[in-house]
Amino acid sequence: MAIEILVVDDEEMIRSTLREALESEGYRVSDFGNARDFLRYFQEKGGEIILLDIRLPDASGLDLLLEIPKIDPDVPVVVMTAYGDVETAVTAMKRGAYDYLPKPYNLTEVNLLIKKIIQTSMLKGQLNRFREKLETNYSQLIGENVKMKILGEHISMASQSDRTTVLIRGESGTGKELVARQIHLQSSRAAQPFIDVNAAAVTGTLLDSELFGHEKGAFTDAQRQKKGVFELADHGTLFLDEIGDLDPNLQAKLLRVLQERRFRRVGGMSDISVDVRIIAATNANLEIAMEEGRLRRDLFYRLNVFTLFLPTLRERKDDIMLLARSFLDQFRKEFSKDISGFQPDTMEILSNYAFPGNVRELKNLIERAVLLETTNKIRSSSLPEEMHGRPRSQSMTPEIMDPGKPWETPGFNLKIYIDSIERKVVSGAMADTEGKKSKAASLLGLTRFALRHQLKKHGLADDS
Ligand SMILES: Nc1ncnc2c1ncn2[C@@H]1O[C@H](COP(=O)(O)OP(=O)(O)OP(=O)(O)O)[C@@H](O)[C@H]1O
Ligand SMILES: [Mg+2]
Repeated sequence: MAIEILVVDDEEMIRSTLREALESEGYRVSDFGNARDFLRYFQEKGGEIILLDIRLPDASGLDLLLEIPKIDPDVPVVVMTAYGDVETAVTAMKRGAYDYLPKPYNLTEVNLLIKKIIQTSMLKGQLNRFREKLETNYSQLIGENVKMKILGEHISMASQSDRTTVLIRGESGTGKELVARQIHLQSSRAAQPFIDVNAAAVTGTLLDSELFGHEKGAFTDAQRQKKGVFELADHGTLFLDEIGDLDPNLQAKLLRVLQERRFRRVGGMSDISVDVRIIAATNANLEIAMEEGRLRRDLFYRLNVFTLFLPTLRERKDDIMLLARSFLDQFRKEFSKDISGFQPDTMEILSNYAFPGNVRELKNLIERAVLLETTNKIRSSSLPEEMHGRPRSQSMTPEIMDPGKPWETPGFNLKIYIDSIERKVVSGAMADTEGKKSKAASLLGLTRFALRHQLKKHGLADDS
């Protein structure tokens, strides 16, 4: 059964657009044009996430915010407010709304927000709410290339032994997270939680309590006892993403849990045992990280039991169009666009492009192309300009940069123009360094953090 989202809005158009977009993501949607119908349904059948308009014919969404918790105190509510109406947004948040969406919002924003809600609800331990339902929302691993077939076999092997630690290595955007979820879903732990932790995102004491939990009063802000991800993942799978960036102080602690499957909450007096399968992933060069003393060798050997190497998209160019068609299918449904395929020159460009950002980059640029396309086949003009394969000698360098009169191009817009130059430079540096972020960052005179931001902004990496 898919996660059910309740949409409450008096405008028929908004309801049907949201319904279609959310259903194509695999959610169930029930929609209501007024407060009375909604409340009656919610009381009887419940729901998992609510998208609530403020102005309804028979009530104010703000008042509903006070009614909803009486029926179900845990359901996350997103309020849709008029653009610029800060006051309503603030009141909504004070009344316990999870978040607000100023109109007009786009469907990508809505989707991202829903994914975020699901993830944080899982971390907060409201697992039953979402656990089994999530499976329907994750896509299949696509690829016919022999490397993908071998990968498929390795995934089955890894799934069969449900305690073996798995290490997934591969460039950014090659599908590491997708593979981790597949292993989980094919294993005997499928009905148990899959908990996803980004080791690079949280640091210091916070990560400590994130991993192991804490007792009430363990530190100033610890007003309640909290379970860490190891406990939340008990009987299931713990996915440690970006393990190459794990805080050195925590590496020793992690090693101990891997060895003993026991740990202590922060401030705790006794050990807790758990039954957890660990899957770790990284796009970092772990051998160099060890040489440089950033990664403990003993931890590496603990993780490096069953290792999967994900091929880059460059190594399996024959899969490019297969993936492109599948993403086209997905996004044309999502955006309700009547697009049946690709023009020949578009296919030519896609098949020859190096994809420094791998499958994620391909997916993002198909999404963009579907949005931009006005005919029923994707034209090459709907692809980012830097893919059109101009020889490198013509590329701009700071000394000779003379943009001419770009405003003479119909539809010229300075921001889009500058963005496209930025994207071109960043993706070029990534291609030149074969996707090595720290090298690319130094070529560009950016910090790693700033480069990450650039990659995200231009859909070249981390979309999560
Ligand atoms: N073989 C595949 N078939 C279908 N979709 C894929 C495939 N590989 C990756 N994707 C899609 O590409 C996107 C990126 O994949 P994923 O997040 O798993 O990459 P990653 O290796 O974890 O990247 P990063 O290192 O940047 O975190 C996701 O939307 C995923 O669904
Ligand atoms: Mg990832």
